[in-house]
Amino acid sequence: MRYIVANWKSNKTIEEAVSWLKELLDGSMARWLDGRIIICAPFTALSGLKKQLTMKQLDNEIIFLGAQDLSSFPSGPYTGEISAARLQGLIDYVIVGHSERRRYLKETDETVARKIKQALKFQITPIVCLDEPYIENQILTMKQSNHEAIEQSIFAYEPLSAIGSGRPDNPENANMIAKRIKKITNNVPILYGGSVTSQNAKEFMRQDYINGLLVGKASLKAEEFMKIIKNAET
Ligand code: PGA
Repeated sequence: MRYIVANWKSNKTIEEAVSWLKELLDGSMARWLDGRIIICAPFTALSGLKKQLTMKQLDNEIIFLGAQDLSSFPSGPYTGEISAARLQGLIDYVIVGHSERRRYLKETDETVARKIKQALKFQITPIVCLDEPYIENQILTMKQSNHEAIEQSIFAYEPLSAIGSGRPDNPENANMIAKRIKKITNNVPILYGGSVTSQNAKEFMRQDYINGLLVGKASLKAEEFMKIIKNAET
């Protein structure tokens, strides 16, 4: 299965999010991809997007919603936190351990492992971001916390130097790292993320061990994102 994931980060009002989705649905993208399109939107836009999707969803369901984070705590007295239980039914996927959260919010491997546990408890599939050169440690902490979590997750290899820089990794190198991750994780889906555009999507998707793309900046315009989906398929 292929996955094309949009990570909007802290962008888009509710109205902008819904009109982006309308553009995607009108573009009949859904029929082009043999796989899943996952839109990871800000929390504020999720229910508007969900409403729009439920109204318009096609028979062969391929567009799914994801969050960009969730609480490492259960529901309860944790002001400002959004627990997995609050997200259940609204989303199917959640990004965890993105390097921007590790860097700006000081998220640790242990916190990430707790978030993964919470997500899985509520049937939400984690998309776990891994950064070179910390891949082995990040996976080890996850394994120690919950061994089964590995097989129930999707992993995204995101080299720090490629995120938002316009300098993507070399596709062959990304393929080698994806191979390495597959070996440690027992063959789970691996995405590549970091400066993906419609120009380079095809080259990454052509690689044997890469099962999908995690797209930041280039997912903000529906037109460019649709080009990425189209190029990823051909
Ligand atoms: P980018 O972001 O595509 O803007 O490099 C990717 C990501 O951070 O997931």
